[in-house]
Amino acid sequence: MGYRTIVVGTDGSVTAGVAQQTAARLAKRCRAQLVIVCCYGPPGISRQMAETLLSHAARAARRERVEPVTELRPGPPADAILEVAEERSADLVVVGNKGMGQATRFRLGSVPDRVAHSASTDLLIVNSTGAVRGPSDAEEHPEKLYTRIVVGTDGSPTASEAARKAFELAMMLRAEVTLVTASKDPIVAAILLERTESGRPEGVKVRSRVVESDPLEAIRTVALDEGAGLIVVGNKGMSGARRYLLGSVPNKVAHHAPTDVLIAKTVDRSVEEIVPGHGGVVDSGGRKVAVYRDEDGALHAVSPRCTHMGCTVDWNDAEGTWDCPCHGSRYRADGEVLRGPAEKSLAPQDL
Ligand code: FES
Repeated sequence: MGYRTIVVGTDGSVTAGVAQQTAARLAKRCRAQLVIVCCYGPPGISRQMAETLLSHAARAARRERVEPVTELRPGPPADAILEVAEERSADLVVVGNKGMGQATRFRLGSVPDRVAHSASTDLLIVNSTGAVRGPSDAEEHPEKLYTRIVVGTDGSPTASEAARKAFELAMMLRAEVTLVTASKDPIVAAILLERTESGRPEGVKVRSRVVESDPLEAIRTVALDEGAGLIVVGNKGMSGARRYLLGSVPNKVAHHAPTDVLIAKTVDRSVEEIVPGHGGVVDSGGRKVAVYRDEDGALHAVSPRCTHMGCTVDWNDAEGTWDCPCHGSRYRADGEVLRGPAEKSLAPQDL
C-alpha cells in the first residue's frame, strides 16, 4: 500500500484543512508526491482567491515537510479532483467528510460523495469534525498518524482486499489492526477471521473481534471501543451491488463513521487487461498473481508476496520493476531481487 501520488482538494474551509494535513502526513510516510487542487469559478471562488488558497495550502504542507505540487483548475471541485487524479495516475484521493450527502456552504461539500462513487483510486475520507480520532491516536501518540486500524471481514474478495491494505498500512505506520466480523455463528466467524489473518505480513499485530450485530454497527462499535483512528473498507457495493454481506457497508461507514475511513479499491483486473511492457497484480482463478507482459506479448507471472515480510508488491511502470511499499525491496519483472531487504526472488507462478 505504498501510495505514490496523493491528491487532495482545498477550498480554504476547516474541513479541507484537516484533510490536507492528513494527506501531507501520509505523503511524508509513503514518500508520495502530494498534489493539492484548488478550483475557481462563479459564484464562489475567483481565480485570484484560488491562487491565494493554494499558496496557503502549499505552505501548510511544507510545515509538514512535504513539497507539494499545486493545480489550479476552473470548474466544479469534484470534477477537477477526479480529473487531476486521473491525469497524474494518483493512487489515493483524500477528502474531508463534511458535506457528505448534503449541500453545505463549503464548495467541496459534495465532493466526498462524488469521489467515493467515481474514483478509480483508494479514497481516504478524513473525519474533519474531529469527533473521534481515538484517544490513543490523537492524544497519546500525536506524532503517529494512526495507531489502531479497524477492518471488517466477511470472507468476500472485497473484504480481503480491504484487510490486505489495512495490514500493509499498519506495517508502514507501525499501527495495530483489529479484524471484525459480524456473525452469529462462532465457528463461521473463527474460520473467517483465521483465513483473513493468515494474509498479514510478519510483524503486524492483529486482534480479532466477533460482534453479533449488523456489519456497520459491528465496525462502529469496535472502532469506538478501541479508540481506533481509521476504518478500512472495500469499495464493492458502493454503486449498488449487494452480493456481499459487507456490500452496503462502505457507503454507510463513510457517512457515519466516528473515525477516518479508507475505502480501498478492490483489485479486479484480469490478465487480459495487462498490455505489453506493463505489469499488475491481477486475479487469476481466485488467486492474486503479479503478472508482467513483455513487449512480445509473453506473460511472466510471479507471487505478489514480498519475500521479506509478506507485503504485496506493486508494479512500478517508470522503472519496470516490482516494488514493495513496506521496506523498499525491488524486484525485476521476472521476480529476481534487485534491492533488499528481500533476499529471495518472487516465486514463479502458473497462470
Ligand atoms: S515486506 Fe519488507 S520489503 Fe517487502
